[in-house]
Amino acid sequence: MEMRGVFSLLIASSAVWLTSYYCRPDPPVPTNNKLILSWEPHYGDYSFSFGHGTPEDFKKAGCKYTNCEIIKRRWLYPLQRIDAFLFHGYEDYEILFGTPRVRFDHQIYIFYCFESVRQSYIAERRRDFFNMTFTYRLDSDIAWPYFGVYDAETEELVAPSFNPQWISTMVLKGSKVQQDIDALIASKTHTAAWLVSNCHSVSGREEYVKKLQELGIDVHIYGACGTYKCPFSENCKKIISKYYFYIAFENSLCEDYVTEKTITAFESGSVPAVLSGANLTRFLPPNSYLDARELGPVELAKEMKRLMADKKSYAEKLYWRQRYKVAKYTYLTEKTGHHPFCSVCEAVNTGKVITKRNKEVLDWWHSSQTGDGGSCLM
Ligand SMILES: *[C@@H]1O[C@H](CO)[C@@H](O)[C@H](O)[C@H]1NC(C)=O
Ligand SMILES: *[C@@H]1O[C@H](CO)[C@@H](O)[C@H](O)[C@H]1NC(C)=O
Repeated sequence: MEMRGVFSLLIASSAVWLTSYYCRPDPPVPTNNKLILSWEPHYGDYSFSFGHGTPEDFKKAGCKYTNCEIIKRRWLYPLQRIDAFLFHGYEDYEILFGTPRVRFDHQIYIFYCFESVRQSYIAERRRDFFNMTFTYRLDSDIAWPYFGVYDAETEELVAPSFNPQWISTMVLKGSKVQQDIDALIASKTHTAAWLVSNCHSVSGREEYVKKLQELGIDVHIYGACGTYKCPFSENCKKIISKYYFYIAFENSLCEDYVTEKTITAFESGSVPAVLSGANLTRFLPPNSYLDARELGPVELAKEMKRLMADKKSYAEKLYWRQRYKVAKYTYLTEKTGHHPFCSVCEAVNTGKVITKRNKEVLDWWHSSQTGDGGSCLM
């Protein structure tokens, strides 16, 4: 508590300093572009890995509207010139970065967050504050999930979606595929790998893994919480491919919260055991993963043992690879005009704030999509 008090004081004093720093009245750079101000740094990067956030980048992405610019310096333009603000729903960012002094009618305040509901923060005083939501949740006004599953032939995005049209029973087509899968399986030498850096999660995944180990599943723990090391991510994928299973356990169990952990498994050719609050049929091809939440440790351990003993059943878990491929969500949208930032630019241009919620953002964020419970199980 003591430390927390000192910390808050530090934050408060830096806020004063930051406010004076950011409000320095420099002469504005003239432009007709619509301006989207990133109010806080997004993990140190203000342009969200969307190039430099310039109209060129909106053009390259094939956006319908390209006259937008993501800007990071508050003092470059007078406040009323800003068309949209991006506010990160993260921890004490509001205390640290404050809120605009005045609000103009045309301005759109966007709540964005790619951390789970559990690891985010919206202050109570930010009720009746936001106009749009921009998060990993599929029912956001603008959704930006962590990854997409694409049809390998047509390159169309299949999932995540509320109701993806999966090919449910996959069969092997061609001996080449058979050989690839056989070779992949033959190269496997270990049971399960888990790469983890945060050893105390809300979801209690550590206990779950401990239970698996007690049940005779040999889980090799990589990173800060274990004894195995893989220094470079590329090597890591090679290492993971040697494992039958990859532990893709989220740190909190929230609706639609499935992160890059699962793609790591898919990219490495390992079968993920996924622990998530998401409805996984909306995210992953059928028979491509083990649902650790549904199964529980005892059944999951049984299933892992069964699959390792029955190579034919195990191979079926890899059949999806013939038909689908997994990539970051912006893999396609970066070229086809469907990048989430195209939607932001469109909203800013048309003034049509497409709010799908009929609810205050703060309440929406904490409630389930069916409205009959919380957004997170744990
Ligand atoms: C955005 O939301 C605020 C607060 O609810 C509201 O006053 C304002 O009119 C909205 N702005 C737009 C452009 O819809
Ligand atoms: C999961 O999503 C699918 C596809 O939308 C749906 O049919 C199913 O009922 C959902 N399951 C649960 C438990 O909500």
